[in-house]
Amino acid sequence: SDDDTADAGGNGGGDDVISIGFSQVGAESGWRAANTKSIQDTLTAENGFDLSFSDAQQKQENQIQAIRSYIAQGVDVIAFSPVVESGWDAVLEEAKDAGIPVILTDRAVDSEDESLYESFIGSDFVLEGETAGEWVSENLATEPINVVELQGTTGAAPAIDRKAGFEEATSDNPNVTIIDSQTGNFTRSEGKTVMEGFLQAHDDIDLVYAHNDDMGLGAIEAIEAAGLVPGEDIKIVTVDAVKDGMQALADGKINFIVECNPLLGPDLAEIAKKVVAGEEVEKRIVVEDQSFTQEQAVEALPTREY
Ligand code: AHR
Repeated sequence: SDDDTADAGGNGGGDDVISIGFSQVGAESGWRAANTKSIQDTLTAENGFDLSFSDAQQKQENQIQAIRSYIAQGVDVIAFSPVVESGWDAVLEEAKDAGIPVILTDRAVDSEDESLYESFIGSDFVLEGETAGEWVSENLATEPINVVELQGTTGAAPAIDRKAGFEEATSDNPNVTIIDSQTGNFTRSEGKTVMEGFLQAHDDIDLVYAHNDDMGLGAIEAIEAAGLVPGEDIKIVTVDAVKDGMQALADGKINFIVECNPLLGPDLAEIAKKVVAGEEVEKRIVVEDQSFTQEQAVEALPTREY
């Protein structure tokens, strides 16, 4: 309608409903499912939003297409979680030219021009990798250990940063050797397949460091199928702390998990309202994460939200 057109760009027309286009990475993990639920449960009509949601199936071209269609629709705000870090400048320029503010959630872009987005809400992935590395260094690497790494999606901020953080935190401990490292694309099935390959190639694996719970859960299946005991014969450290991961931790199959909080919907709603109202927002909102040992998982599980 004419009203909608007048609202494009976020400067408010007669109605207060905020139209928001959200381009999600995909449905690759339990974390992503919890993140999608948080966004859909928060950006509701009751809360004053008209949400258009799309799933990019882990493909950057699908996200660029979705963002272009939100620009064409003239939504008030665009939000997205970029599947990979690079290659966003052109489409972000298009949004800027159309006067539509962009909010990044969960994952960062590597654009040098920070005026291309209003705010980035999400965890500190380098810190998550460091927390994992510190725990390994202090608790497992008191003697030499061989580590295999299951990386997240190639080029994704959490894969780049969790790798860097772990390497940094273990670099001063000569007992830690990363003997193999491959992407499992943040999925359980690829985590399993890659772990099967690791087990065939190496008979001396002490630890799996997986960039998310789902790949760690896939690795558990491969380790058990090989007749070994996960959490004992081969230790496992992961990131996310979603329900299935926490259950495996409580069951002794995973040894340590660094949390990555997926409940970004409320922060996104607040920032979107401020941006549309023309208020100042923080450029970077860091979501706080905890970490869990096996004992802590047993305690935390009954009241976990996701
Ligand atoms: O970007 C966050 C990461 O993406 C989560 O840790 C992982 O599970 C998801 O796929």
